[in-house]
Amino acid sequence: MAMRRIAVAAALVALALSVPASLAQAPAPAATPSGPPNVTAVLEKGGQYTTFMRLMKETQQDTQLNSQLNSSFASNGGGYTVFAPTDNAFNNLKPGTLNSLTQQQQVALVQGHILPQYYTMESFQTASNPVRTQASGRDGPYTLNVTANTNNQLNVSTGVVEVTVNNALSTAKPLAVYSVDKVLLPEELFGAKAPAAAPTASEGKPKKGGSSDAASGPAGSDDAAPTDAASARAVGWTLAGLAALLGYLL
Ligand SMILES: *[C@@H]1O[C@H](CO)[C@@H](O)[C@H](O)[C@H]1NC(C)=O
Ligand SMILES: *[C@@H]1O[C@H](CO)[C@@H](O)[C@H](O)[C@H]1NC(C)=O
Ligand SMILES: *[C@@H]1O[C@H](CO)[C@@H](O)[C@H](O)[C@H]1NC(C)=O
Ligand SMILES: *[C@@H]1O[C@H](CO)[C@@H](O)[C@H](O)[C@H]1NC(C)=O
Repeated sequence: MAMRRIAVAAALVALALSVPASLAQAPAPAATPSGPPNVTAVLEKGGQYTTFMRLMKETQQDTQLNSQLNSSFASNGGGYTVFAPTDNAFNNLKPGTLNSLTQQQQVALVQGHILPQYYTMESFQTASNPVRTQASGRDGPYTLNVTANTNNQLNVSTGVVEVTVNNALSTAKPLAVYSVDKVLLPEELFGAKAPAAAPTASEGKPKKGGSSDAASGPAGSDDAAPTDAASARAVGWTLAGLAALLGYLL
């Protein structure tokens, strides 16, 4: 029985491969949209996020998030939400704020602006606080509190900084990007419990902010390095395809 289904599946695959190009180009029923979103392109288009883009690049969170978005897109997963501070927001920080952070802390700062879930303005209304971010430290994930009302007004608080979201740069699933005019300084780095001047790195090795060799291991809690993600993605595609085919046949 199973063998016959597999034979049927193989026949269908062969048939599908032989579909003439003209037919294959017909509007695909419920097929995948154009492609995975690209957070860099969204920010670039926004025009006033150059500092955040630079930070994302320096901490390799742009390629990391794009890779995660790729997987999310492929698997129709939960998606991501980014709070993107404007250049003005960074200009309003106390001078030296970014440079006072170690590379690892800069990674956490960026990840603290990214939620591993896709939120529309409406779905923020039912989100339960605190909402976790991609950043995490010794005490677990960094979190944000969100307060939304039915007029699409949304406030976001880290405990140190509170900001009202003014507009969305993207709401195309699986990526929502909202503009904020303050940098979301995490309580873990800037609050009362923040480490004094010392970095949180357990080795206690002093590091200069922005040094490039520190970039390799800072995001130790991340679930997948980009290369692993690529192969996981390939397997995901294949499994998703097989599952869809079997689901159709059985
Ligand atoms: C994302 O967009 C940026 C800016 O447009 C571009 O340089 C980059 O190659 C894109 N990345 C991918 C994976 O398409
Ligand atoms: C996304 O996945 C496709 C193949 O599934 C790959 O060609 C592309 O390079 C990936 N992009 C990123 C940013 O990982
Ligand atoms: C957001 O914060 C502003 C200023 O503190 C306040 O007036 C407003 O009511 C808040 N909105 C929500 C939805 O909490
Ligand atoms: C966030 O919300 C939780 C749950 O309502 C609350 O316990 C916590 O004190 C809030 N934190 C901040 C920083 O507002």
